[in-house]
Parts: sequence; structure tokens; C-alpha cells
Amino acid sequence: MKKKPSQNPTNVIIYGNNAEILTQIPDNYVDLTVTSPPYDKLRDYQGFRFDFQTIAAELYRITKQGGVLVWIIGDSTIKGSETGSSFKQALYFKEIGFLLHDTMIYQKSGFAFPSKNRYHQIFEFMFVLSKGKPRTFNPIKDKPNKSQYTFSKKRRHKDGTMSHQQDTSRISVEDFGMRFNIWRYKTGRPHTTPDDAAYQHPALFPEKLARDHILSWSNPGDIVLDPMNGAGTTTKMAHTLGRKFIGIDISKDYCKIALERLQSVKSKDQTEQTEKSTINSTILTAFQ
Ligand SMILES: C[S@@+](CC[C@H](N)C(=O)[O-])C[C@H]1O[C@@H](n2cnc3c(N)ncnc32)[C@H](O)[C@@H]1O
Repeated sequence: MKKKPSQNPTNVIIYGNNAEILTQIPDNYVDLTVTSPPYDKLRDYQGFRFDFQTIAAELYRITKQGGVLVWIIGDSTIKGSETGSSFKQALYFKEIGFLLHDTMIYQKSGFAFPSKNRYHQIFEFMFVLSKGKPRTFNPIKDKPNKSQYTFSKKRRHKDGTMSHQQDTSRISVEDFGMRFNIWRYKTGRPHTTPDDAAYQHPALFPEKLARDHILSWSNPGDIVLDPMNGAGTTTKMAHTLGRKFIGIDISKDYCKIALERLQSVKSKDQTEQTEKSTINSTILTAFQ
């Protein structure tokens, strides 16, 4: 039987095993999860493992109807073959009820491991999964549009032939249009984050990536979760953007870094006074 949650947590960094901690979060509670799991034992996070199927089921249960899970993952190569864990996990999420809303690409500016017999690997998948139709979509419009252009009007006649009528009228459109679903970021120091302490973690994702998903799939005041919060990129950006946050990590060292990073930002929607008490309670909750 499931444990009954004793409280509704927000603005906390929780140190512990996500498979256990997620069971204490109420049903239909979280608006958005942005996370990147350890994949294929590619890196050693101080020897910790995670249980994918348990976490997937818990994430479905605690996501609100219309809420979104962004699962950022790549594959390692084992015995000459890519593992395909990324696809397997995306399809498993579908099996348990999530919609695979969009398969996006996170393109990095460099690669971690050089390849000798294939092209260098510079991307990860960003599976955008939703519990029902996504309730929130705030598209980021930063792709420059041509402000004026000419176009050719096509017309099909009854006999099937086409005629083209050159229309030279000048059409004005907005300066920027919605970006595509391949997102490119400069990675590595100092682009990933300006926070020096964060680089003690071996696998950060860029602050801008977390920011862009939070802006796209949530609104101020929403609850944003990262159950594998690492050095706290998601929680820092959620706080910066006026969202509530929950970060979980099994490493106490990474939780401490996540807290330091939170303390270095000011929340958009909070006064300095309120913000201080939020941060203090975060520390107590995380390490009591
Ligand atoms: C890819 S890293 C996440 C990095 C994060 N996105 C950031 O930018 O800092 C994955 C994290 O999962 C954590 N982790 C592994 N197993 C876990 C578990 N069972 N419960 C909670 N966290 C776990 C590791 O400690 C590691 O920090």
C-alpha cells in the first residue's frame, strides 16, 4: 500500500533515493518535471543507481492532468552498439499512459567522448511527455523571420494544369517566429552555468535549456520537479522564473551545491524577505 503523504512539499531540495521520496508526493501534484537520468552507467554518480520503472510509474501518478515531463537522455555504446535505452524508456512512458508529445533534440556545441569510427555524438533526446493534452504551451518566439517577402500564388485549373501568378506585394510578419524543436546550446564552462561550484557535477545540462522548458510548459506559481536534480539546474531556474520547485538527489554533496545555487538567485515574484524564509525552510527540510 502507498504511504500517505504527510504534507504537500514545495520549495525543497530533498536528499535521498527518488524511488522512495516520490511515493510521498501526492497524486496529480506536479505541473512540470524537467530531468535527466543517469544513463547506461555512462558516468559514475558516486556509485548510485536508479530504478527506472518505479520512477516512471511514480512520475505518471504525481503529474497533474495536462502536466508535462521532459526526459533528457542519450545512449552509450556498449560492445559496439548504442544501447537504445533512450527509445526503450520513451516507449515505456507511452505504455504506462503518457503521450509522447514531442521528440526534441538538445544539440551541444561539443562532444564529451571523441569517436574514431563514427561521427562525433553531439546530441541528446528531449522526450516531451504529457499526461493528456498539455495544459500549457508558451512557445518561445526567437527565430528571426524575414520581415518582407514575395510569394507565388499557385492555382490549379479544371484541366489539372497549374498556373503561377507572381505576387510582389510586400507582406510584413512579426520579427520573430516560433523556434523549431532542435535546441542548440553552447556547452562547457562558462556557458552551461556561471556558477563555478556546479562544475563539481560531471553531467550538468545548461541553465538555458532548463529555462526554455520551464517557460514553454509551465506558468509562474506552478510546481516544477527534478527527481534527479544533480547540482540543481532545474530548481535554480524554476526559482528564478517564479515557479515552485522540488529537487531530489541521492547525493548529499550535489544537494548542497543545489542549495548554494538557489541562495544565489532572487525569485522574480517574491520580495527579498519572503525569499529568505523560503530558502531557510529549504535547508531545514532538506537536511533535518
Ligand atoms: C544527469 S545527472 C542530473 C544533472 C542535473 N540535470 C544538473 O544539471 O545538475 C543525474 C543525477 O541523478 C542522481 N541520481 C542517481 N540515482 C538517483 C536516485 N536513485 N535517486 C535520486 N537521485 C539519483 C545522481 O546523483 C545525479 O546527480
